[in-house]
Amino acid sequence: MKVLLGITGCIGAYKAAEILRGLQKAGASVRVIMTRSATEFVQPLTFEALSGQSVIVEMYDRPNYAVIEHIAVARDADLLLIAPATANALAKFAHGIADDFLSTVYLSNTNPVLIAPAMNVEMWSHPATQANLKTLRERGVYFVDPGSGYQACGEVGVGRLAEPEDIVKRALALFSTLPSPTPNDLAGERVVITAGPTVEDLDPVRFITNRSSGKMGYALAEAAQARGASVTLISGPTKLQPPKEVGFVSVRSTREMYDAVMSKMDESTVFIGCAAVADYRPTNRAEQKIKKNGRQGITLELEATEDIIAAVGAASRHDDRIVVGFAAESESLLNHAAQKLKSKNLHFIVANDITRNDAGFDVETNAATILRRDGTSFELPLQSKRALADAVLDEVVKTRATQKP
Ligand code: PMT
Repeated sequence: MKVLLGITGCIGAYKAAEILRGLQKAGASVRVIMTRSATEFVQPLTFEALSGQSVIVEMYDRPNYAVIEHIAVARDADLLLIAPATANALAKFAHGIADDFLSTVYLSNTNPVLIAPAMNVEMWSHPATQANLKTLRERGVYFVDPGSGYQACGEVGVGRLAEPEDIVKRALALFSTLPSPTPNDLAGERVVITAGPTVEDLDPVRFITNRSSGKMGYALAEAAQARGASVTLISGPTKLQPPKEVGFVSVRSTREMYDAVMSKMDESTVFIGCAAVADYRPTNRAEQKIKKNGRQGITLELEATEDIIAAVGAASRHDDRIVVGFAAESESLLNHAAQKLKSKNLHFIVANDITRNDAGFDVETNAATILRRDGTSFELPLQSKRALADAVLDEVVKTRATQKP
């Protein structure tokens, strides 16, 4: 476990020494980055002595620029932990400002980020800070929220750095959900994944669609490719770039997605239906823009679309293809997911509770329950969509193992 510990300038900076020690006791190696203001509270020497590694403060004070150091430093860690983080640091992270080493590392970092904020109660409750926290949470940053009590400034309220042992515990819990070094356990599998929404046109300018961003399906494609599978991603309209080295088919309507899936079916060994497919489309698409007819309402007539995964499930009854569905539910999650598992002839289904605001549609994180054919189930706790994708693929690997003679 390699942790990059970022320390920003506030009275709680001295507690970072305890955090560093706690992480080391759990077996982590810790590299420290301090902002210039943090060094006003604690000397870098303290952290150099404790970590056994040089502490980075300035952007341009390193002797070796053969590598771009902020990128190299970020790549060489498993977790970026910032404790304590001031209101100023949160604002920079939320707005992509990179004007010192720590904020530049934050921007070039692709590993999970855990932040323990600390600040005066008024700064904490200021709408600007709360908006920055919301932005960062939506981008998948994890937080250990500050505690309440007497503050160095003499005020009482929320803003005190969380206890070092709680911060260490949270960092260790995060480690346990991180994907382990990528195995090659999907080599030989040909995986077809659907992602994103489908779009059903009413007329040349209006359409019916849903909130799917494609993030979950694209994460699955990236993870399956990294684990050695040959991957085809069939996607409705999204703002995402398809992962490198993944076969990509862009579609719009459910009919187009159905045709694309069917054309790849024979060569596939695993099918994962992650797309939020429209269940209905207008019975007739108007050739011209539908005109307003005074103040009278109009009635839209809709017909059922093709059920893509049910067709794949039916076609896979007599072969070894593994068929995995997702279920996005706003009520009776497990009951509805169990019905879909059975009626669509799936090997397992990933049930998404879409009433949570940190899971499901158009967020960076997800939490789900996997329901298997044999009636067993288990929960996947809140984690990045990429980590959850790996957990879903672990289940594909287990399912394949049970088929082997
Ligand atoms: O794209 P993101 O913003 O990252 O959000 C991810 C997600 C919430 C879209 C994803 O995690 C998810 O839950 N996908 C399934 C959404 C859905 O439409 O579920 P459903 O319960 O309506 O459909 C059940 C299953 O049948 C799904 O595998 C779906 O792809 C499939 N289906 C549904 C209807 C249809 N006509 N054809 C299908 O193949």
